[in-house]
Amino acid sequence: MTRFSVRPATPDDAAQIIEVERSCFHDAWSAAGIHKILGDEKSLVYVAEEGKQIVGYAAAWTISDEGEITRVAVLEAQRGRGLGRALLQHTQNECVRRGATLIFLEVRESNVAARTLYARCGWIEVGRRKRYYQDGEDALVLRLASHPER
Ligand SMILES: CC(C)(COP(=O)(O)OP(=O)(O)OC[C@H]1O[C@@H](n2cnc3c(N)ncnc32)[C@H](O)[C@@H]1OP(=O)(O)O)[C@@H](O)C(=O)NCCC(=O)NCCS
Repeated sequence: MTRFSVRPATPDDAAQIIEVERSCFHDAWSAAGIHKILGDEKSLVYVAEEGKQIVGYAAAWTISDEGEITRVAVLEAQRGRGLGRALLQHTQNECVRRGATLIFLEVRESNVAARTLYARCGWIEVGRRKRYYQDGEDALVLRLASHPER
């Protein structure tokens, strides 16, 4: 099995990131939204690639000492191989490196895969946003509790 690598995204990755986004989310971000984060200095985007194929990506932003992880997505056929964990760890490490000490994310209550991933990477539940999603599901608010570089 080929080994994947994780690296910062470039604007040239947009088309493949859009494909991953559309295959992973019913409420996928628009192509314009993806182009925007790839050109925004407050945003950070990492991709996991295998050969020349992008098989997952993660996105976040930081402003001053705050950060938010906004996406972690892996193509369905590639899940369960550690890509989500690698993407999340690169992204959260970079948030910390940029000076964020308070890093949050939101996750659907029913998203067991993502909640397990976040728990394994040091995230704890700190709140709940009632009926946050369009279909009425609650969002759980998680915060990165501890980080080796802190
Ligand atoms: C969430 C997601 C990114 C996980 O990606 P992945 O590459 O399969 O995750 P990994 O293989 O790195 O697994 C990370 C941890 O989560 C656990 N996990 C992954 N999928 C799981 C599942 N379906 N059920 C329970 N635990 C799961 C793994 O066991 C692993 O923990 P471990 O290393 O202690 O065993 C992937 O399922 C996905 O893209 N989902 C759709 C998009 C999404 O919902 N993103 C999150 C919200 S933005």
